[in-house]
Amino acid sequence: GRFDVVALPECDSTNAVLLQQSASAPSGRVIVADRQTAGRGRRGRVWHSAPADTLTFSLLWRLSNEPARIAGLSLAVGVAVAQALEHCGVAGVGLKWPNDVLLGASGAGKLGGILIELASDRAATAAIIGIGLNLHQPPAADGFGLPAAALDAAGPVPERHVLLAALLDALACTLDRFVAGGFAAVRDDWQSRHVWQERPVRLLGDSTTTDSAVVEGRCLGADSDGALLLALPDGRIERYLVGDVSLRAA
Ligand code: BTN
Repeated sequence: GRFDVVALPECDSTNAVLLQQSASAPSGRVIVADRQTAGRGRRGRVWHSAPADTLTFSLLWRLSNEPARIAGLSLAVGVAVAQALEHCGVAGVGLKWPNDVLLGASGAGKLGGILIELASDRAATAAIIGIGLNLHQPPAADGFGLPAAALDAAGPVPERHVLLAALLDALACTLDRFVAGGFAAVRDDWQSRHVWQERPVRLLGDSTTTDSAVVEGRCLGADSDGALLLALPDGRIERYLVGDVSLRAA
């Protein structure tokens, strides 16, 4: 198979473990942990996961894409997560730029997150793709800007190994498409699940500081690099790359 799965009862962070192995581990190495003692979220946040209630794993994948083109990877991974959940019978999965996986009508709650860290050498870029999904009762609000949601709100929760297998299948397929064609190859699949497509949104500055509003506009989706496109009130279209901005409903 294309995957080499290592299951750990506990580690600090599956992303951290794979980063340490990134020079030697084969593409397709997966670390899945029952418990993380220092799970990481984007922008320096902590990812909390009660052992029985979440699926937390990381996948190492070597990419030949130009570094400049890797920005859309976290969106592409969101597509794979959504497709895997749909394959397991979960209805109502939505995506929010850049990489939140949401559940419920109009994307009410955050079901999971994606944290991608890169380790590059001369030959290629190794992407460490970390995914955390809430299976049961959402953890308390923890500063992610959205209420948490869990899979059990959408029906029976698939067995953990069934879910992991579906996720890895979908990831292999989506990553092949991404390597061959960049984000453009999966853009339609992303936009069809984007909860704020064509809706008014606010783009905020770094929310770890003051949440000061940066700009409001209508969300036009993502361009072929995965940059967010906003139509501003004066008619201009601006693009924003993944960085220290976050998106809210206006
Ligand atoms: C986010 O929403 O900010 C991203 C959260 C990513 C959490 C996952 S859990 C598995 C992997 N290991 C980590 O330490 N983080 C990611």
